[in-house]
Amino acid sequence: MAFSFTGPVLGIESSCDETATAVLDRTGRVLAEAVHSQLSDHAPFGGVVPEIAARAHLAILPAQVRDVMARAGVGFADLAGVAASGGPGLIGGLIVGSQVAKGIALAHRLPYVAVNHLEAHALTARLPGLVEDGAPFPYLLLLVSGGHCQCVAVEGVGRYVRLGGTIDDAAGEAFDKVAKLLGLGWPGGPALERLAATGDARRHDFPRPLLRREGCDFSFSGLKTAVARVVGTYPAGALPAADAADIAASFQRAVAEVLADRTGHAMATMRARYPTARLLIVAGGVAANGAVRTALTREADTRGFHMVAPPVRLCTDNAVMVAWAGLERLRLGWTDGLDFAPRPRWPLDADGMRRGLA
Ligand code: KG4
Ligand code: ZN
Repeated sequence: MAFSFTGPVLGIESSCDETATAVLDRTGRVLAEAVHSQLSDHAPFGGVVPEIAARAHLAILPAQVRDVMARAGVGFADLAGVAASGGPGLIGGLIVGSQVAKGIALAHRLPYVAVNHLEAHALTARLPGLVEDGAPFPYLLLLVSGGHCQCVAVEGVGRYVRLGGTIDDAAGEAFDKVAKLLGLGWPGGPALERLAATGDARRHDFPRPLLRREGCDFSFSGLKTAVARVVGTYPAGALPAADAADIAASFQRAVAEVLADRTGHAMATMRARYPTARLLIVAGGVAANGAVRTALTREADTRGFHMVAPPVRLCTDNAVMVAWAGLERLRLGWTDGLDFAPRPRWPLDADGMRRGLA
């Protein structure tokens, strides 16, 4: 049943290493937002440390919520609802964000929405002004981040069909691991892209796992191993910068080709199942990569799809998308009980989206 409300919605994101808060008015306009990246807390360890992340969320979030609410000019009692990422993600951070949201909801008698973080990425394209005519359902989502790599048919709010996903590493994880092999630090994607810009992408013919195979699954670990083998032919610490650039460029080209090929299959599947579908949305940190965008745009064009990647700040983890997903759910009258238990694993398909599953 449709549900009408007039107040703004508060959104909270704390599933990984971004602490973020946003307030959107009931049309989806951003009144205020903040994203605190914990990168510098985790960088010395070469990856996200769950316990450090949870403590950082706890240290940052309460003041961030107060600040964003003040900048939005909104009092807690004016809100129409409070939404927080309830999973999937790191349990410590999920508990922190969910408890803050539940506390506000309880104190001010507001509806609470436990948002699936993947659903938030999936619905971002429907934020007002991002896609012409507002990204009507159904559309195809390619989610490519450090933790996720999957193609999803988005049929409606709460209605997702996973068409394929990675059978080993996520695409961003492959970027990070290869960047580490090349001594580029963490997170590696942006540094690897910068290095690749100066290299020869045709020097190494790295494997393209699953290329032209049936289905829409992805695989990156064989590619990463092939890169490790080439790097291993140089004495430790003696990889010349020009050779590193050629490796980076060749690796990036292979990833872009694989992503385009697999997503191409997903577009064909999508078209067969939903004849009106013609929109491909790409989200997640890897969507920031120029070579990946170019390859996907070309593939979409040849298949009669229109590819849209939201601006990078909305592709990577943020709270605007969480508030927006909360708003889409509130519009349908869908809320959650304060007994909702955060779910570190929470798949984005029909069974997973049913609430209360372990
Ligand atoms: O979506 P995101 O910010 O966080 C999650 O993983 O949820 O994605 C981060 C991932 C990292 O693996 C990072 O290396 C990758 O996205 N990434 C990139 C680029 N920018 C970020 N990979 C390739 N090229 C980039 N320009
Ligand atoms: Zn994410």
